[in-house]
Amino acid sequence: MNIKEATFIVSNTDVGKCPQDGLPEYAFIGRSNVGKSSLINMLTNQKGLALTSSTPGKTQLINHFLINNRWYLVDLPGYGYTQGGIQKRRTLQRIIDNYLYRRKELTCLFVLIDCRHNPQKNDTKFIQQLGENGIPFAIVFTKIDKLSNEHLKENISIYENTLLKSWEKLPSIFTVSSERKIGKDAILNYIEEINHTL
Ligand code: GTP
Ligand code: MG
Repeated sequence: MNIKEATFIVSNTDVGKCPQDGLPEYAFIGRSNVGKSSLINMLTNQKGLALTSSTPGKTQLINHFLINNRWYLVDLPGYGYTQGGIQKRRTLQRIIDNYLYRRKELTCLFVLIDCRHNPQKNDTKFIQQLGENGIPFAIVFTKIDKLSNEHLKENISIYENTLLKSWEKLPSIFTVSSERKIGKDAILNYIEEINHTL
């Protein structure tokens, strides 16, 4: 699938103010700075559609982008964002949780993981909670330009083994580099396939 049209629709902190047209949504989540906004820009071929920054905590709102007039990509704030203090962190957590657990239109959540990191507690705990709450998700390893192929394979297999301790079956797994434009088609085709089943 190709994205012909990607339009920013709305940013807000309130799940009640998200679009009401019932179109399916594909959202991106993960720690601050993992590359959520950059991935949205790569998928849509638009450099500055989602705002990115080298400083963690750039995205602080729920951002809806309408794709080909048929579905949405949703950019979310990062979790584990610490700057701004505990209050700020709690507020962001509440925004994210409200979206994840109340938004009926959420069709698949892409959980982004920096491929350089070993499994971290807050990521695996987050994934566990998705399972317990029946939220459909896939995993995306980001910034693969930063590792050799061999090292990447090793890190992914460590991650898979960790997941297999609590899951019978692995979720769909993608690898991307927004910097080098790698991994775009696999994600867009996956979304297209799901859209066809709706
Ligand atoms: P928050 O909105 O703060 O939660 O961050 P985010 O997850 O949206 O990350 P963002 O896309 O803003 O990217 C964070 C930093 O990582 C930026 O400096 C990007 O240029 C860089 N980055 C993103 N993707 C890649 C990638 O594939 N490769 C490399 N090398 N850098 C990347
Ligand atoms: Mg962002």
